[in-house]
Order: sequence, then C-alpha cells, then structure tokens
Amino acid sequence: MATCSAPGKIYLFGEHAVVYGEPAIACAVDLRTYVTAKRADFITINSDLGETGLDYEVHPYVSACINKMLGNGNRRFSLGTVGSPSGVSVEIRSDIPIGSGLGSSAAVTIAALQALNLEFSLGLAPDRIAELGHRIEAEVQGAASPTDTYVSTMGGLIALPSRRKLRLLDCDIVIGDTLQGASPKKTARMVSMVASLRDEFPNIINPIIKTIGSFASLGEKLLEERDYASLGKLMNIDHGMLDALGVGTAQLSALVYAARSAGAYGAKITGAGGGGCMVALTDRPEKVAMAIEDAGGKAIITRATELGVEVE
Ligand code: MEV
Repeated sequence: MATCSAPGKIYLFGEHAVVYGEPAIACAVDLRTYVTAKRADFITINSDLGETGLDYEVHPYVSACINKMLGNGNRRFSLGTVGSPSGVSVEIRSDIPIGSGLGSSAAVTIAALQALNLEFSLGLAPDRIAELGHRIEAEVQGAASPTDTYVSTMGGLIALPSRRKLRLLDCDIVIGDTLQGASPKKTARMVSMVASLRDEFPNIINPIIKTIGSFASLGEKLLEERDYASLGKLMNIDHGMLDALGVGTAQLSALVYAARSAGAYGAKITGAGGGGCMVALTDRPEKVAMAIEDAGGKAIITRATELGVEVE
C-alpha cells in the first residue's frame, strides 16, 4: 500500500498573462490532497464524491491516472494481463476546495500518479510525474498550463516560465473562497473569455497582459527583499487588472476589499477567477480571516510550503 500527498497552489502574480507567455509566480500552499493506492482484484476509487470503478464522469483525473499508469497506455504494465494484479483500490482525501482555483485537480492527479508509481514499482522520477500529470489535466480539461502540476510536484515558490525556485514567503496567507462558480471547466471558460476580449480589443488588452507580466518580474525582487508591503500594493493593482480582463466577480472583490480593510498587505483573485478564490498576504491572519467570513466567504489560513509530492 502507498499513500502520497500533493499540495494545492496560489498565484501571487501572473494568472491569465502566463497563457500568453508572460512571467508569473506561483506558490505551493499547505493544503494537501492524500491518495492511497493498494493492489486489489478490482478497480475502485473512493472519495467524498462516492465510490466508483474507472469513471470519467465522477473521478476523471484518477481514472485517467490509473489508465495511463496501469492500462494500455503503459506497455510495462497492462491491467488484466495474466500473472499481474487486475486492479487497484484508490482512496482520496483532500483539504483543497474543488474547482476553485487552488489546483485541486493537479494535486489529486500528482498524488495519485505517485501513489500508483510506488505501489506498482514503476520507477518514474518526479519530473516525469509532473509531465504525465500535465498531460492528464490537458486531456481531461481540453487545455491546461503545466503550472499547477509542476508546482504540486515540486512544491515551493516558483518563477514561471523559467521554473526557478525562489526563497519561500514567510508571512501568512489567507485564502477566501467565494463558494461560487466552482467547476473544473471554469478555467477553460475564463481563458477563452479573455481570448475573445483580446481579439476584440487587442490594443487595450495586450498592454494589460504585459503589465500583469511585469508584476512577476518586479515581485521577484520584492520577495527577495521580503518587502511584503510593496508586494501587497502590486497584488492590489494586479487584482484591478484581472477585473479589467473580465474575470472578477462582485463577491471576489467583496472578499478582497474586506481583507485589505482588515490590514492585509494586499489581496487579489487567485487562479482563473469567475468565482472561486482570492488570496491575501498578511501578518494578521485571524483578523483578515474574520473579515473574509463577515463578507460571506470561507476563509482558510495557510502558509507557503517547500513540500511537493510526498510519501506519507
Ligand atoms: C488558472 O489557475 C490560471 C490561468 O492562468 C490558466 C492557466 O495558467 O492554465 C487562468
């Protein structure tokens, strides 16, 4: 039996602009998904969503992981071949809200791939796990950037597209979940909405995308200096830019303003937007969390983590 866990992530800067090749900074956070894989006679997948066999409706990511690692997609191991176990039992438990911009699908995919890798001694190295994870997300969602799966595999604070590891944040992070708009298909919808706006108004939207990219470059320097006050100001401007791209919602902004009023260094949308989550950096996590809850959100106090995919 093998149990592995993998973290969720936030974007400090750069969501949406990264789709157009601009720099971004993403950070693994201490909210994790745990997956146990155990050889068995049949395939079963168990989570809060219910118990299924290979099921691409209820458990699309884990079903794709099993197929890729143990099915026809892997010539070294084929499900049901004589002399090999014909199934696997997979158990999933997660701290990460689903489809809310915190990389929940990447975390379950990476934790499942690593648990299968260990349980069936497939010998895949972490960079291969990250690559397979990206391929599975892209297959299931139709499109995905490699950011979520890479950060979930490697952990830490990561500059993109270079994938350089930066010195970890040491202030508190408060996430505010609007509890609205959660859907695994939301990212693709939001990305395509920004693309349409860009097609319609290229001279206006392209400079906004460039400006968002410039936050990541400046943000790297401020992170090195641990200048959270200036980082927070950049996050606030970034939130305005994301709003201008059309991915904000009234509730996201309500939580962002509540966090700022409670003394956060800065606050912004994290992930694709259109609902989902916002993130604040702060040295007053309880006060910021309470303000987010008073504004109707669900607050989660967390920290940055260097831990990527881990064996439990
Ligand atoms: C979604 O978490 C972030 C986006 O930039 C899309 C992506 O990078 O795949 C909106």
